Amino acid sequence: MTTDATPSSVAAEGELVERLLGAMTIEEKAGQLTQFFYFADIDPTTAHETKDGDLSAQPAGVDAELAAGRVGSLLFVRKAHATNHLQRLALQGNRHGIPVLFGFDVIHGLRTILPVPIALAASWDPDVIERGQAVAAREARAVGIHWTFAPMVDITRDPRWGRIIEGAGEDPFLGAAVAAAQVRGFQGGRDVAPEHVIAGPKHFAGYGFAVGGRDYDEADVSDSQMWNVVLPPFKAAVDAGAGNIMTAYMNLNGVPASGNAWLMDEVLRTTWGFEGFIVSDAMAVHNLRTHGFAADLTEAGARAVNVGVDLEMAIFDPAYAHLPEAVEQGMVSVETIDECVRRVLRAKIRLGLFDQPYVDEARAAEVLADPAHREVARVAAERTMVLLKNDGGLLPLDATAVGSIAVIGPLADSRRDTIGPWVFDFDLDETVTVLAGIRARAGDTTVEYAPGIRPAKRRNASMFDMFPGNSPVDPVDFDDDAELQRAVDLAARSDVAVLVLGEWQHMIGEGASRSTLELPGRQLELLQAVTATGTPVVVLVLNGRPLEINWAVDHVPAILDIWYPGTQGGAAVANVVFGDVSPAGRLPFTWPRSSGQVPMFYAHTISHEPGNQHRRYWDVDGTPLFPFGFGLSYSSFRYGAVELDRTSITADETVTVTVDVTNTGSRTADEVAQLYVHQTSGTASRPVKELKGFRRVAIEAGATGQVSFTLGRAELCYWNAAARDWVVDATEFRVGVGGDSTVTLDASFRVER
Ligand code: BGC
Repeated sequence: MTTDATPSSVAAEGELVERLLGAMTIEEKAGQLTQFFYFADIDPTTAHETKDGDLSAQPAGVDAELAAGRVGSLLFVRKAHATNHLQRLALQGNRHGIPVLFGFDVIHGLRTILPVPIALAASWDPDVIERGQAVAAREARAVGIHWTFAPMVDITRDPRWGRIIEGAGEDPFLGAAVAAAQVRGFQGGRDVAPEHVIAGPKHFAGYGFAVGGRDYDEADVSDSQMWNVVLPPFKAAVDAGAGNIMTAYMNLNGVPASGNAWLMDEVLRTTWGFEGFIVSDAMAVHNLRTHGFAADLTEAGARAVNVGVDLEMAIFDPAYAHLPEAVEQGMVSVETIDECVRRVLRAKIRLGLFDQPYVDEARAAEVLADPAHREVARVAAERTMVLLKNDGGLLPLDATAVGSIAVIGPLADSRRDTIGPWVFDFDLDETVTVLAGIRARAGDTTVEYAPGIRPAKRRNASMFDMFPGNSPVDPVDFDDDAELQRAVDLAARSDVAVLVLGEWQHMIGEGASRSTLELPGRQLELLQAVTATGTPVVVLVLNGRPLEINWAVDHVPAILDIWYPGTQGGAAVANVVFGDVSPAGRLPFTWPRSSGQVPMFYAHTISHEPGNQHRRYWDVDGTPLFPFGFGLSYSSFRYGAVELDRTSITADETVTVTVDVTNTGSRTADEVAQLYVHQTSGTASRPVKELKGFRRVAIEAGATGQVSFTLGRAELCYWNAAARDWVVDATEFRVGVGGDSTVTLDASFRVER
């Protein structure tokens, strides 16, 4: 191996990049711009590949490409011995000594699994999100992963879309805060700090608006929606210093996102000044041909490079292998290719890969086992849970007073479902299910379990099925009627029934959209049968999207949304259920009554007086089941009058909004104060309410806390599609601060010209 230099300064970095560029052939440059999937991990004793499940998708020939020095990056390698082994092959093969960059989907943890991203958003707690993703980064970096394909910052207003679970929900303001927090957590700063990784916000842009919520379908997003709703989280991630951006699969307004000059050139690089590197989504450059956008792979590669897609993520047959031909045919210039190579090389140099391409395998094992990481995951999970209903204060349960608890439902004791989708390196042995968590915390209370029903089946196979543990196993010798009866009998003889209902993790995520939001399988029947016993029922919802739980809302006293809570999920659930922690998560989406209401979001505009809302549907209320921002507490809070320090500002001034929040209950608890504004008139019609500030605060019982927010140009301006510009209208703004998006906006100020 020959490493050309070990730069310690920007000048040295530039010099190394230019020297390498000068020495590389066009084929080698094309290789630097290619990222291959590498599904197999390597057996440390034999250095042979160990295959995960059926890996028929394992690309042939990647090893040959490595040997020829034509691989810039690999993805899906996730063991320290494997990254070391492949890095060695790469360095042996690359005559310039250029190491490969390892990227991976570290979405909500590598070994320590955090709650799923939508749950993290429900914490409304940027610090907890940052700490969680810092743990994920530490574990990833320890095994040799340099870069995560996260956060997913796609706003969506369609919960049928399975990837809602990976994002922060429907709101651009919350989405931007969550995006920035994740970037800070992953990278540890604008430059990637030690023990951190490059963050790659995705999918640029509009993917969450797939028609019908069908994954990969085209997205038609208006200009106003694009700037006001879709782009703000990306902008926040770029401003936080994200080193990478991933493109999106689909057509955006008729032009494939991965070949979209407006997105990449005009918005990302020119308007926002993004200096990092761009990667395509998997096969998305190759698929420019499938889109009917490029005639062949040569044109596909040329067009992607021409809009600045630096790396092509490929499973097989990369379009960028055709870049030498594209240069010959005059479709792309060597200078343009060099710009892409520069950005990729700079990322490698800045990560220190030329100095230290390998990781310490013993240390990696220690980092993965760090108990402090489990603690971060448990606290995060506790902070994500949303109390949806609690009639008569059924929750928290008093372990000293409740004699027996029936834990019911197949999801209650499923380790794989407890951690949710988009994880690959988890350890099921250390995963705490709801049942295990309740058992451990219940003390002398008797805890018995009955699944009641078998796991529900999904109709379609998924690309994730090939990973061990991902395909659900249908239990053998499961007598459906007898099991249901056993669960009912158990509930009947117990003091409380805790029912875990929701979706199996394989029903949500990529390629897992659903046409309905109903509880899958026989869960409703189970719920109804258990409720009929008369035993008080607590429903725990295990989910990543709103589900049709209307029957539960009408008939059971207590409902807690626990999401897919991760490695320590059951322990966190028990701490909330038994009242060690008061739940203060808030919904990051509007929870519709049925999928027929979708898309439903709070920040809509109106054309008729609110009294006409009922005309919207003939058969269902025009309101949601739960509004955006909603969540109860074991305590209660009263908001004082909103105070403004001034009632009139210019567009360049700010107004300070202050409100007293009193904890009127008998225990210390967190509250999430949410500030909403409405622009009453102007050069466009603006939403009835828009979130423009939030603070999660702990307030002692009986105490009053004060929260304040600043409103100025950043919060009041919006993209006006008619003016094709950002504007702040001179008009009246109404303001309200409260516990969810139904708050009344009873204060106001004016923006004067
Ligand atoms: C997904 C990306 C992911 C990539 C690599 C694609 O199918 O859309 O979000 O990062 O696979 O796993």
